[in-house]
Amino acid sequence: MKLASRHLLGLDGVSHDDIELILDTAVTFKEILNRPIKKVPPLQGKTIVNLFFENSTRTRISFELAQRRLSADVVNFAASGSSVTKGETLKDTARNIEAMKIDMVVIRHASAGAAHFLTKVVKANVINAGDGCHEHPTQGLLDMYTLREKFGSLKGLRVCIVGDILNSRVARSNIFGLQTMGAEVSVCGPSTLMPLEIERLGVKVFHHLDDVLPQVDAVNVLRIQMERSAAGLFPSLREYHRFFGVTSERLNKVNRPIAVLHPGPINRDVELSADVADGPHSLILEQVLNGVAVRMAVLYLLGLSE
Ligand code: CP
Repeated sequence: MKLASRHLLGLDGVSHDDIELILDTAVTFKEILNRPIKKVPPLQGKTIVNLFFENSTRTRISFELAQRRLSADVVNFAASGSSVTKGETLKDTARNIEAMKIDMVVIRHASAGAAHFLTKVVKANVINAGDGCHEHPTQGLLDMYTLREKFGSLKGLRVCIVGDILNSRVARSNIFGLQTMGAEVSVCGPSTLMPLEIERLGVKVFHHLDDVLPQVDAVNVLRIQMERSAAGLFPSLREYHRFFGVTSERLNKVNRPIAVLHPGPINRDVELSADVADGPHSLILEQVLNGVAVRMAVLYLLGLSE
């Protein structure tokens, strides 16, 4: 079985069958991650470059681990320390790297559309590792994998995405992917952090966390993106925490457990209290482990497309 596209740029428009194929393939790779010897040969002889123009901990390490587990040769590129600091364009950077016979490119960039642009200038498979406020498809996939593993199915699952929706590529990928898989998605946050006409994506919008919590099975809590000026859109971090912070006190008011996800990095005691982040219903570290398996699945499946 192959994916319909030879690139993964976003989850908008990716079919139910393709998402299911990636999640099912990731189950096999997760089993491999639990073995004493975690390396398998499918990408032997392939060379992959990780182009990171924005900071990352989880995504970059997770992609690199996934690539090495699949026996690919890996080249890491960070914008700082490269010729980008001398004014080289994304197009020239990519074409020069491709001249060195690269098979796949993983790109993170501050500009929405950067991954799509790369598909026009290089022949390699392109994977979007987060482009501005647009999409972060492998994060959406690993969140869905984690929820499916916990609940057995995504169909009918009620998930609320909480926080800085305005600046979030993770929110968009989750909304597209979860809806395709039959989940009911809502969003909750201050109106200043809510994109205009977000309802048109088919989500229910809440501005009071206590109203939505009794109606959901899981919350995916988003980081307040200080670097994208989000902190200027509400009075103070303390006030944000008071109204939108996911705390044990709030969760305990609902008489059943609610699973808690967060893509990381966490602003502890801002969007999520530390005891919830480390508590029994937190799936945050499962998300990190599942991220490696899901990225292995994406790399493997794209490696089958020529
Ligand atoms: N979730 C996520 O994208 O984290 P990083 O920014 O650390 O890669």
